[in-house]
Amino acid sequence: MKNIAILAGDGIGPEVVAEAVKVLQAADKKHSIGFVFSYELIGACAIDATGDPLPAATVARCQSSDAVLLGAVGHPRFDSDPAAKVRPEQGLLKIRKTLGLYANIRPIKSYKSLYNASPLKESLIADVDFVVFRELTGGIYFGEKGRKNNGNEAFDLCTYSVEEVERIARLAFEAAQNRRKHLTLVDKANVLETSRLWRDVVSKTSKNFPNVKFDSMFVDNAAMKIVQQPAFFDVVLTENMFGDILTDEASAITGSIGMLPSSSVGSKVALFEPIHGSFPEGAGKGIANPMATILSAALMLDYLGYPAAAQEVRAAVELALQKGVVTGEISKDNPASTSEVGDFIAGSIV
Ligand code: IPM
Ligand code: MG
Repeated sequence: MKNIAILAGDGIGPEVVAEAVKVLQAADKKHSIGFVFSYELIGACAIDATGDPLPAATVARCQSSDAVLLGAVGHPRFDSDPAAKVRPEQGLLKIRKTLGLYANIRPIKSYKSLYNASPLKESLIADVDFVVFRELTGGIYFGEKGRKNNGNEAFDLCTYSVEEVERIARLAFEAAQNRRKHLTLVDKANVLETSRLWRDVVSKTSKNFPNVKFDSMFVDNAAMKIVQQPAFFDVVLTENMFGDILTDEASAITGSIGMLPSSSVGSKVALFEPIHGSFPEGAGKGIANPMATILSAALMLDYLGYPAAAQEVRAAVELALQKGVVTGEISKDNPASTSEVGDFIAGSIV
């Protein structure tokens, strides 16, 4: 039996999560996994129901589960209100911190049948297959923040400790060892002291992995390289905010941000979520691409020890792409709905 906490969240979150659950149920039927799904609140919907973007019941459920599947968090009604006391995103940041999920792993892969959907030339995106290790519980996201000078000045502090850098560096090097053995640290060490600490610690860690080629790159240069020569990268290791920005950029390579899954690990329970946001304009219309969440569910199957099932889910996604069973941001002329995509993928797992 595997207990899965489902945090569908806001906007398109519930729709894409529903399709991933369908797919997990199909995998369960075939592999007798014994999934038990429990639904809990996070984000704007949790604020509406309880006043808290991360209710205690949600935390407790996640902590007692084998894994967490999350949809998306965020609502524009909070974005346009700088004075809002609570924000949906606080729920997301807090669950990451509370569960100790310090490494967010975001694989970036190009799909042959999506080459046309990418703004980049086919010659650039063929063979793109890299993975970003984004630090998830430190840096400017979690440093002290506030106002001074009667509110006329604002600050967000970026801090990192040696230990915070070391633990994710180790995971990233281990991953590189099982891939093409190339790790690139992305930082801004020409300007930021935290980046100089990262360079220091990661260089030291690299000595323990002599078979991995280690290099480093400034984040501005990396932003350029991601569109100029994305196949250069194998494992990218970076801090929280750089990783946030670079993975949205990298998603353009695949042709749609609706394709990119992620896993967040660090403690005994792992969390799986698409990298896209809550897309509130698209909510309730059946137009959201569920593939990123379905691929996140595949990462979850890997994590739970069902690699064959994970592989079947990935193959079913590829089949849907090949057959053109895709949502409107990929196929304008003949779009499938969110649930049609989910039904096709779940139906291919037999
Ligand atoms: C992501 C998102 C979040 C982040 C937001 C919603 C707080 O952009 O998971 O990439 O910045 O981490
Ligand atoms: Mg982001």
